[in-house]
Amino acid sequence: MKLCMIGTGYVGLVSGVCFADLGNDVICIDRDIKKVEDLKKGIIPIYEPGLEELVLKNYKNKRLKFSTNLKDSIFKSDIIFICVGTPSKKNGNGADLSQIYNVAKEIRASISKFKIIITKSTVPVTTGDEIEKIISQKVSKKLFSVVSNPEFLREGEAIRDFTYPDRVVIGTTDKKSNKILKNLYLPLISKGTKYVNTSRRAAELIKYASNAFLATKITFINELANLCEKIDVNIQDISIGMGLDKRIGGRFLRAGPAYGGSCFPKDTKAIVTTADQFKINLSVIKSVIKSNENRSSLLIKRVFNILNGKVKNKKICFLGVTFKANTDDMRDSSSLLMIPSLHKMGAKINYFDPTGEKDDFKKLNNVHFSSNINFAIRESDLIIIHTEWNDFKSINFNNAVKNKKFIVFDMRNIYSPDKMKELKIKYFGVGR
Ligand code: UDX
Repeated sequence: MKLCMIGTGYVGLVSGVCFADLGNDVICIDRDIKKVEDLKKGIIPIYEPGLEELVLKNYKNKRLKFSTNLKDSIFKSDIIFICVGTPSKKNGNGADLSQIYNVAKEIRASISKFKIIITKSTVPVTTGDEIEKIISQKVSKKLFSVVSNPEFLREGEAIRDFTYPDRVVIGTTDKKSNKILKNLYLPLISKGTKYVNTSRRAAELIKYASNAFLATKITFINELANLCEKIDVNIQDISIGMGLDKRIGGRFLRAGPAYGGSCFPKDTKAIVTTADQFKINLSVIKSVIKSNENRSSLLIKRVFNILNGKVKNKKICFLGVTFKANTDDMRDSSSLLMIPSLHKMGAKINYFDPTGEKDDFKKLNNVHFSSNINFAIRESDLIIIHTEWNDFKSINFNNAVKNKKFIVFDMRNIYSPDKMKELKIKYFGVGR
């Protein structure tokens, strides 16, 4: 099939490349000329395991193309995926849909035969209705169908998540579009992926509801971790004991820092705003947002206590600063709150991240990037494991750290407390 992805960010690039790999002709469009030129040269704008190889392979066999020409690409395609950003509004919590609506206007200027127009970006309920309204002002409804097909892929696991999703959700009541899209996803459906056809509004809501629920699970276990710390119980035992109940499930029950990333913080706020507009109070999700926002201050207080209130001039090393492992994404990472706060309290901070130095900390005079783990931790009084990269799972701390009284604060519970005790390392985890 002939597809075009408008917006070559995370969702657009990954799904475009994966659709090409399934045998479709895909044009990935972006208005950023440099990004498009780089992609043509095989330079990938994001860090995502496996993505580069897949781009190179499909670009070489010509199933994948990159372009800045929206009009021409729409003309050549049967299915158009809108994959542009839907960030939080600057002055509020709702999603800023200006990019989506601008694209809708551009699409309507280029339709001459039947097109399926799909929102793959996360968009609030009724956005599809609005897109349909915008396009139908200039184009007959017979020539297009607006469908919601939310993407559930996780950063760092994006290609696997695209190829083996738990479900494909298609929001449309148009039988013709449903048939075409079921066919597009057939290679995944025939491997066992569930295909859910529902209304457009329901599909839009499924995405927000899923992210809000996962954020709730994480926040729930993070709050229980606070209790576990007071009663000498290991939160990991609670996660295992709860997770074995099939109604609950063990995933997204790992206690740690505040959840971050490009989706959970933004989407939880957006769903609450949408509900408020309909005068519905999503009080559970509101509490989740508040609890997660408080989590970084709570962990900073914990660092303060671990250091017996003496933070000034302490050498603190952060291992990992991105919001999770296997990504270079800093968006809403809890390190963005924790590092400046500890810096303000007078700590001298070193950090190492496998994805390199971050612009976010360049202006802080006592925050420095080290290009390898051993060098980063060598002089430390306190080592904070912030992100669960595999690189941090078997560090020989006793050999690497000079100061023999160093402390490890493992915010991801990577190491065994018993093992650390055997090694005579002063060690703290989360919720245990
Ligand atoms: C998420 C959703 O999983 C995905 O379906 C959606 O399309 C986009 O948002 P992503 O943002 O890539 O994906 O990250 P995810 O792996 O879900 O983690 C989000 C945050 O939750 C991270 O900060 C992570 O560290 C945290 N997390 C996750 C926990 O603290 N504990 C867990 O058990 C799981």
